[in-house]
Amino acid sequence: MKTVKVNLKDRTYSIYIGNSILSDTNLFKRYLTSKQILIVTNEKVAPLYLSIIEKHVGELDYETYILPDGESFKSLEYFNNVISKLIEKKFSRTCILIALGGGVVGDLTGFAAACYQRGVKFIQIPTTLLAQVDSSVGGKTAVNHTSGKNMIGAFYQPSAVFSDTSVLSTLPEREFSAGLAEVIKYGIIKDGKFFDWLEENLSSLVMRDEKSLSYVIERSCINKAEVVAEDEKEIGYRAILNLGHTFGHAIETALSYKKWLHGEAVGCGMLMAADLSRRLGIFEQSDLDRIKSLLIKTNLPVKIHKDVQFEQIYENMKIDKKSKEGILHLVLLKNIGEAFLTSEYSDELLKETIESFL
Ligand code: NAD
Ligand code: GLY
Repeated sequence: MKTVKVNLKDRTYSIYIGNSILSDTNLFKRYLTSKQILIVTNEKVAPLYLSIIEKHVGELDYETYILPDGESFKSLEYFNNVISKLIEKKFSRTCILIALGGGVVGDLTGFAAACYQRGVKFIQIPTTLLAQVDSSVGGKTAVNHTSGKNMIGAFYQPSAVFSDTSVLSTLPEREFSAGLAEVIKYGIIKDGKFFDWLEENLSSLVMRDEKSLSYVIERSCINKAEVVAEDEKEIGYRAILNLGHTFGHAIETALSYKKWLHGEAVGCGMLMAADLSRRLGIFEQSDLDRIKSLLIKTNLPVKIHKDVQFEQIYENMKIDKKSKEGILHLVLLKNIGEAFLTSEYSDELLKETIESFL
């Protein structure tokens, strides 16, 4: 088992990574320090992995809440259902919530933990690659508003993260590739050597080789933990984790969040950010080619979806929430391994980038 620490003073916690750690009785004993436990999961994950967790909580006063599957249930309505369950079962401030699932379950459960009686403990058990390398780490919790994604939320750190690589065996191919987009992101924004490693080892990774997976999850978590430790509430530096997201959100919005997965949009968006950086003369063509080639090998899109028009992307980018006082800030690149946030780019070149990806 590997352990990565997220250093945040009195909110420091560990991420445990390994094959079959969900069967580690001692690990669960160490963290389940309450008699009142609520496991939140969804209807797809429950039949696969709920029984493994139930073995650890059998003697406690545990409850489960099973969400329907899908982003549209990361809502205030389902958040309220979780809170109602806690109240109905008379759970006190010492209760512990367990989020068993992908980023949807993790974000909603984390937000419920942040709010219930002003904050109770929660443990993240991420079951998608995206959740293991990104959403379970760093304390961003949220639900969606009808008019915007992640509009209602809080920074609230978990007590621990248990990432079991064996649960990834049941993850559909497209979801796996979408998770790899976030993995590649760490290489591009701050870890050039990791990017080299990904280029050399992608074939074993896509075969879901256990050693490669645990290495990649560990390295991704180390990178994310370093950024979060420096800028927990995204005053500045943490924004580099959003590489490709402004482009990606614009595409997802144009597609009404239906045709592409988040990671697919982020993959294409990262390449667009690299393209704009190259047009600005601060990033090498050869590095752009390396990113494109790795995305293609990962089965991620390198062109904008055919149903999307130029104006949709351009206008959606302008209303992106990272637009501060009317000025759109973008994460751009100097090298593979060095990203920065800036508002200094030419609008003409941004338009050229969008055009070239249609
Ligand atoms: P998801 O939670 O919808 O999971 C994807 C699909 O895989 C779902 O159908 C799910 O039921 C299924 N699934 C989960 N685990 C499985 C398994 N082991 N085997 C088979 N199927 C499985 O999506 P996601 O990609 O994990 O997360 C996306 C969400 O995460 C979005 O809501 C996004 O906003 C959020 N997010 C949050 C952060 C953060 O920092 N908090 C970062 C990135 C993304
Ligand atoms: N996924 C971006 C962040 O955690 O800041």
